[in-house]
Amino acid sequence: MRARAIPSLLMSSAFFTVLTVAAICLSIPRSIVSAQVANPAPAAASEEQARAFADNLIRKMTLAEKIGQMTQVPLNSKPDRPADEMARNGEVGSFLFITDAAEINRLQHVAVGQSRLHIPLLFGYDVIHGFRTIYPIPLALAASWDPSAAERAQSMAAREARATGIQWTFAPMVDIARDPRWGRIMEGAGEDPFLGSRMAEAQVKGFQGDYLGAPDHIMACVKHFAGYGAASGGRDYEESNISDEQLWNVYLPPFHAAIEAGAGSIMSAYMDLNGVPATGNRFLLKDVLRDDWKFNGMVVSDWAAVKSLTTHGFAKDNEDAAVRAVNAGVDMEMSSFTFRDGLPQAVRKGLVSEATLDAAVRNILITKYKLGLFKNPYIDPTQTASQMVTPEQRETARKIATQTAVLLRDQDDLLPLGDKYKTIAIIGPLADSKPDIMGSWCLAGHPTDSVTVLEGMRKRFSSANILYTKGVEIERDQVSIFDGQFSSPKPTLKTDAERDAEFHHAIDLIQQSNVAVLVLGELQSMSGERASRSSLALPGKQEQLLEAAVATGKPIVLVLLNGRPLNITWASEHVPAILEAWYPGTEGGDAIADLLSGDANPGGKLPVAWPRSVGQIPINYARNLTQIPNDPDTRYWDGSSAPLYPFGYGLSYSTFTTNHLRIAQPSVHAGATLNVSIDVQNTSARAGDEVVELYTHQRAGSASRPVRELKGFVRVSLQPHETRTVTLALNTKDLGFWSPQTHHWSMEPGTFDLWVGTDETATDHTTFELLP
Ligand code: NOJ
Repeated sequence: MRARAIPSLLMSSAFFTVLTVAAICLSIPRSIVSAQVANPAPAAASEEQARAFADNLIRKMTLAEKIGQMTQVPLNSKPDRPADEMARNGEVGSFLFITDAAEINRLQHVAVGQSRLHIPLLFGYDVIHGFRTIYPIPLALAASWDPSAAERAQSMAAREARATGIQWTFAPMVDIARDPRWGRIMEGAGEDPFLGSRMAEAQVKGFQGDYLGAPDHIMACVKHFAGYGAASGGRDYEESNISDEQLWNVYLPPFHAAIEAGAGSIMSAYMDLNGVPATGNRFLLKDVLRDDWKFNGMVVSDWAAVKSLTTHGFAKDNEDAAVRAVNAGVDMEMSSFTFRDGLPQAVRKGLVSEATLDAAVRNILITKYKLGLFKNPYIDPTQTASQMVTPEQRETARKIATQTAVLLRDQDDLLPLGDKYKTIAIIGPLADSKPDIMGSWCLAGHPTDSVTVLEGMRKRFSSANILYTKGVEIERDQVSIFDGQFSSPKPTLKTDAERDAEFHHAIDLIQQSNVAVLVLGELQSMSGERASRSSLALPGKQEQLLEAAVATGKPIVLVLLNGRPLNITWASEHVPAILEAWYPGTEGGDAIADLLSGDANPGGKLPVAWPRSVGQIPINYARNLTQIPNDPDTRYWDGSSAPLYPFGYGLSYSTFTTNHLRIAQPSVHAGATLNVSIDVQNTSARAGDEVVELYTHQRAGSASRPVRELKGFVRVSLQPHETRTVTLALNTKDLGFWSPQTHHWSMEPGTFDLWVGTDETATDHTTFELLP
């Protein structure tokens, strides 16, 4: 990687600390050994207090104990040494993948009660979109365009996790992803750095609450630092090659936003970034993270990413891998043991200094201190069960799932269905699948808790005649890494004759009904980690089923359950109603019934442009214009180069207009805020939500700037026929960018275009001048 770019005025700002008046505690409190039950720290610990505590402890630690703190051991399979022994000997700082509250508590008692220095363990887990109650996937949360919904979902998830004894989640994933072939696009907020940053902040706040150690909350871990979303060809784990301009302006901002929001930890990514593995990358982990952004939390590697520095052709052996990772700035190694096995000699040989080692241990101890673990390491496992899948969790999950769905098409107002249909066919391989409605990355969820679309529809349309069959089955024909923990039902139709009969049965049921809802998409294991695809087609024979259903002439509603944009180009012309429900989680079936019936009104918007075909990828909206600017959609001679649905797009059962765009003043000084107002009218008789989106374009400067960039948005709820003036505060700080010409962050004075509307094709336009 090129020598480090100039730190910015914008990207550098002090990591906030919250001061408290509590006395500095210089020795391990006696209470730690006898404390029985969680009574989390009532207020934020001060930086100074935490540091003094950690330094005092470090002075007493042996080299082995220090390295123990830097080691994280997974317990989803049998570790090479008994977990108790590791905890007792101070050979482990953190366990991951354990969800049994009593066992967590027991191990904590071993560490705190029986180890020489009584240092508590940190229990980590992937709480990605819910713990036991599953919320819509993160891409769906972004589709709400409502950061408060994302915050609420993660705060509810934190509550269940904390009640189980987990104090640390490996989320949010804030990787910008512009390639839907990449399976992990479902874990992030999509293609845009501005939307991604707002979602990153909201999720950190949701997980952590107001401060690290807040009751009922857990520590966030922002991942994967950095550039994982740009994996070549969308192939998971592949290298990322990202220009400095794109790195600073597109891929890094959500990480910085999350850190500014107080994220306590960050995860170094698996892959090479521009030829240097992210987990051995000093530029990322020192220059950007510590020096520029002043991050003072802890850095954990991704799974075995330290050991895999040898795979990259970077480190010559495991010891070298450990040395390079620690010297680059990794504090804790996840799941491999190069620190444990390699660092003792490396320190003795002087390859890693005591000071470097101490700095890593200090980050970990300070984190544990701030989380309140030295005071209250335990939970009460007898209380855990009663806090899972509570009515409040279910209600919140249902509400959020209605907010995250995106209505892509609704010809002749086929939706909402209301109560006018006597016989409704519910068809599709995902219509009654409890695991699939949850999506990937919900390993502590119980499929039995899920409400399927069929169940939700039966409840909501109890007086209608509901006909159901799968029609087709789908299968992931390669194993998923999660199959052992969580899998979709296996196909039951064995012969072609059985499959044909089922297909025709589905068409018969559609013929017998007044309307048919086809629930199609991908199995939960078809997106997520190691779930990239070379095609975006509906898997299996789903497209044929859809076409045959439409050929019946019956009104057809397509409900999609999936974690990425799929190729629905045919459907976009022939299927009258299409609802993108993503993977909506535990309460998904009820939420979809709410939406289809009209009890709820869709208002979500796409957080990623939707391609017509895989050949259009990447198709993000914020690109630079060049030749023939007036005809940007004709870049291919064999088809349109416009997306099927633009970024920010989504319909509602209500209709809206926007009028009278105005700005508070025609020019604004750099550093100030420009108020932008527009009147939004609900022109329908139905209450609904609209998202007002603000885009800008810098007309001239030291480098070309994207044709449009999102710089503000708000989701508003409007009563029937209500008109509301919406004012968005455009922060000129957000007009700054890292120039590939000057290698500086700056806000460049000049003329800007400004549009406000309801997707990136917004037409209400004005201009303003940015003054120095
Ligand atoms: C590997 C994944 O890349 C990461 O996102 C996750 O947090 C860890 N495994 C732990 O499960």
